[in-house]
Order: sequence, then structure tokens, then C-alpha cells
Amino acid sequence: MSRASAPGKLILFGEHAVVFGEPALATAIDLRTEVFARLHDEWLVDGASLKDTKYAYVRRAVDSSWKGPPLWLEIRSMIPLGCGLGSSAAVTVATLGALAALQGPVDPEAVARAAFEVEHAVQGRASPIDTSTSAHGAAVLVRRAAGDGFLWTIEKGDRRWSLHHASLPGVRLVVGNTGIAAATGPLVAGVKARVDRDPRAAAAVAEIGEITLDGLRALQRRDLVRAGELMDRDHELLNVLGVGHPLLDKFVEAARPHAFGAKLTGAGGGGSMFALTDEPEEVRAAIEAAGGSAFLVETEPRGLEASP
Ligand code: MEV
Repeated sequence: MSRASAPGKLILFGEHAVVFGEPALATAIDLRTEVFARLHDEWLVDGASLKDTKYAYVRRAVDSSWKGPPLWLEIRSMIPLGCGLGSSAAVTVATLGALAALQGPVDPEAVARAAFEVEHAVQGRASPIDTSTSAHGAAVLVRRAAGDGFLWTIEKGDRRWSLHHASLPGVRLVVGNTGIAAATGPLVAGVKARVDRDPRAAAAVAEIGEITLDGLRALQRRDLVRAGELMDRDHELLNVLGVGHPLLDKFVEAARPHAFGAKLTGAGGGGSMFALTDEPEEVRAAIEAAGGSAFLVETEPRGLEASP
């Protein structure tokens, strides 16, 4: 039997714009998904059929990287589904890690590449930020050109992303979850359609790219006030891209009196927001008073871990 685990993620700056090749910054979070794999006489996932649509990422991962006999897979996850916290990336990375561990040594870069292909195939369009952050752990900066902390490059068509390890100071983040699960694929497709027809949306994508690099610099010099302002602006621009939700706006507004800044995170359309704060209890209470469920997350240094 093999076993692998991989963390969820939270995008600090740059979601959606990263699909167009703009920079983005994410951190792995201390919520993990674990996958166990053992040889069996028929295919099973959590005792059910691999054909169930809720296992689309797992099935694609199996199709892409397993030529052997049937397996019994078991998945345990602490990451709420469809809430912008990287549940599909984590299950994809952990599944690929468990399959790789049955076959030999596990290489996080190879898993990150395969996981991106799985996510791209299931979602229709994607960037490697979620899958590479889950595979590497810690904080990950995506940009076109390779620089300090370079990990690997991933290409798709004319888009190219260089993934980097980013050193960030410890920050306190409170996540507010709307409880509304929204599929990433249609949201990403909707942004593409908007960018193709509306120059304001195309300008928003470019501005988000600049915000990400300014935001990284602000976090690195511990200027949380500036980082928070940039998060607030990023949230506005994500609304211009059409991926907001009234509950996200409500939670962001509720959090801001006790936060440096707040924004939606991940694909949007529901899902989650987070606030950068030094008053986490006040922010948590404010989001809960506004009807959300809220919890603190920390950067998770560990990425994919797998053993035979
Ligand atoms: C989803 O967590 C992040 C998006 O930018 C999609 C992607 O990068 O594949 C919305």
C-alpha cells in the first residue's frame, strides 16, 4: 500500500490573471488531503466507482499515470470542496503521489507537471499555480521569466509559467467561507469570454499582474498596510472580471475594520475570501456575524509527501 498527502492553497494575489500568464502568489495552507492506494481486484474509490463524476480529477490522474492492475483508493481531506482552497489540486497531487510511490521514487516536479495536465483537462483551462503550490508547499510565485527561487517551468500553447519558491514572513490569514461551492472551469471560461470582448476586463488582468508583484514586495518588507491595500484593489478587479459574489463582498466589508485588507481567493463565484490581519479573533467574529464560517490558516511548509 502507498500513501501520499498534499496541502490545499490560498491565492494571495493574482488568481484568474495567472491563467493568462500574469504573475500570481499563493501559499500552501495547513489543511491537507491524504490518499491511500493498494492493489485490489476491482477499481474502488472510497468504496465507490471511479466513474462517479465527483472523482473526475482522481480518474484523470489514474488514466494519465497508471498502467497497472486495479487499485483501491481511499481519500481523506480536510479541505472544503469547491471553496477556492485548492481541494481539487490537493486530491490530484496526492493521488498522483500515491500512484508514483507504488512505482518508485516520487519527484514533486514530475507530479506537479502531471497534476497541471490533469487539472487543465478536467477544467478546460487552467494555470499551474494550484497544483505546483500543492506539490511544492510553502509559498509559490508564478511569473513568466525565471528568477530567484526558480523551481520549474510549465508551458501550455503560447502560455508559459515559471514557478518559484517565495520567501514570505509569517502572516495571519482568516478565511471566510460562503459555503457555496462553485466549479472552477466555468468561472475560468467566463473570464476568458469577458476578456475577449471587454477591454476593461483585459486591463484588469494586466493590473492584477502588477498588483501581485507589488504585493509580494510589500509582504517581503513586512509592509502589511500596503499589502492590504493591494488585496482590496485586487478584490475590486476580480469583481470587474465577474467572479465576485454578494456574500464575498459582505464578508470582505465585515472583515476590513479589523484587517489590513481582504479579498476573494481562488476561483470565486462563491467559495472563500480571506483577510490579512493582526486581529484574527475580531475578524473571525465579524465574518461569522455576517453569516460566514471563518477559520485561521497558516502557511504550510510541507508540499507533497509520499511513501510506498
Ligand atoms: C483557482 O484556484 C485559480 C484560478 O486562477 C484558476 C487557475 O489558475 O487554474 C482561478
